Amino acid sequence: NVTRHYDFTISRSQISVDGVLRDTILVNDQFPGPAIEANWGDWIEVVVHNNITAPEEGTALHWHGMLQRGTPWADGTPGDAQCPIAPGKSYTYRYQAELYGTSWYHAHYSAQYTGGVAGPMQIYGPSSQDYDIDLGAVMLTDWNHVPYFSIVTDVVGTDFSKIPPRSDNLLINGRNSFNCSTPSYDNSTEWLGSNLKSSINWTCVEDAPLSKFQFQTGKTHRLRLINHGADGVQKFSIDGHSFTVISVDYVPVVPYTTNTITLAVGQRTDVLVTANNNSAKSYYMRTTTTGGDACGQSSAKEALAVVYYSSADTSTFPAYTSPTTPAKDCASDPLPSLVPSYPLKPSSNPYQQDLTLSLGRNSTGNFEWQINSQTYRANFNEPLLYDAAAGNTSNTFETQDKKNPLFNIFDFGSNSSVLLNVTNNTPVGHPFHLHGHNFYVLASGHGVWDGSLLGSANPSRRDTQWIDVGGYVVLQFEADNPGVWPFHCHVAWHLSGGLAINVATRTDEIVPIPKGTREQTCVDWDAYTKRDEV
Ligand code: C2O
Repeated sequence: NVTRHYDFTISRSQISVDGVLRDTILVNDQFPGPAIEANWGDWIEVVVHNNITAPEEGTALHWHGMLQRGTPWADGTPGDAQCPIAPGKSYTYRYQAELYGTSWYHAHYSAQYTGGVAGPMQIYGPSSQDYDIDLGAVMLTDWNHVPYFSIVTDVVGTDFSKIPPRSDNLLINGRNSFNCSTPSYDNSTEWLGSNLKSSINWTCVEDAPLSKFQFQTGKTHRLRLINHGADGVQKFSIDGHSFTVISVDYVPVVPYTTNTITLAVGQRTDVLVTANNNSAKSYYMRTTTTGGDACGQSSAKEALAVVYYSSADTSTFPAYTSPTTPAKDCASDPLPSLVPSYPLKPSSNPYQQDLTLSLGRNSTGNFEWQINSQTYRANFNEPLLYDAAAGNTSNTFETQDKKNPLFNIFDFGSNSSVLLNVTNNTPVGHPFHLHGHNFYVLASGHGVWDGSLLGSANPSRRDTQWIDVGGYVVLQFEADNPGVWPFHCHVAWHLSGGLAINVATRTDEIVPIPKGTREQTCVDWDAYTKRDEV
């Protein structure tokens, strides 16, 4: 098979994507980061250089949704699959594109990806889908004007009003404009510690350029929608057009049509859009978040981009109409609509694990997110995967890691199928993501699961699932990928606050880890003088 090579340098930068200059951390000085493209079955090799200085930080890149079957050490999770890449050091990831469709890569160190370390992944599969033009990734995100690290430290502080934090803006493919006199601009300073506040020189320029897309009249276009945000659920639409959904996360689905696409953080939806409107006109593409706290947002926002038809004048803008306010129930996926086009049936008699999400405080009064009353802290100096693969000797997985409650390890032993019944007892909703697997979504609702299933013949499958406030979801995965895999909320601030467990499966069958793999990151990291991580 072919190997696709990429060379990524991660470094600090200041950019102004919406008219407001902010501190960022970028891949090859681009935002969003460069696209990774491969054909199904190709190998992908990415050399990552950590050039983050002033101040220095560790890093690690995760390839969201990739199974990493046979290469679990390439999953990019500090504490699970590697030590962080120390400043000034490099690390090479190599893994196979086992699934096809749309996804993204992002830093998995602290909430660093919300500082800018994220880009699209497009894996081209069988060309059975019915479209003329692939327009590629349409990246949707919320956007904060202050450095990510100050937000992280604030939201794990003691002030409940900072949970959830509000974003300043939304972006489509890294662009939008910003009204420099809007209240949210002032609000953003609430996230700055007083020392930071005085050190930052705010600049804001009106009418920053929007992303532009070209439609060919009469043709059908594929758009690959990705929510790479920190927190907000995105509602995406194009004025005057409807969508045919063909894929959800990395799972092709039986096509269905809709006018609005809902994406929680980490989720992807591939849609087809036929340019069957006025060939001389242009139309707004929009993404919004709701004003409901179910979405982790405290005020409504909107990002715009412009779609130009073949004979439209690209120097003009469409007439603007106000968006309709999205419903507060912001992330109820139309589960019955998501029918995988390749049917799979979950194994019978899975091992059942109940998980309850809660928000608590630690001994110093700071907020921590909990699962079954326990918060998670990463073991950056000794990744769990290496210990699990090393067997039961002193200082390993069995004898130490599983006894440390902060590592939140759920070891499912030799079970071949696991059912997770997740109940949300927190004041906000959460998009939960499992590494190394697609899971079945067997049930979802409000209250407590009564044991009934949505229909088990061909349940929907994906890698990231929304759990509403006061709600539950029932997920099942086949334990066919031996390893230690994070299962976590993808809201960046919640993950930093510990809303995660580690799912260990069939650890005695983990493929032998190539000699020297652990040392490549851990020796450098041990020698590096850390600042506090959150
Ligand atoms: Cu997209 Cu654990 O990550």
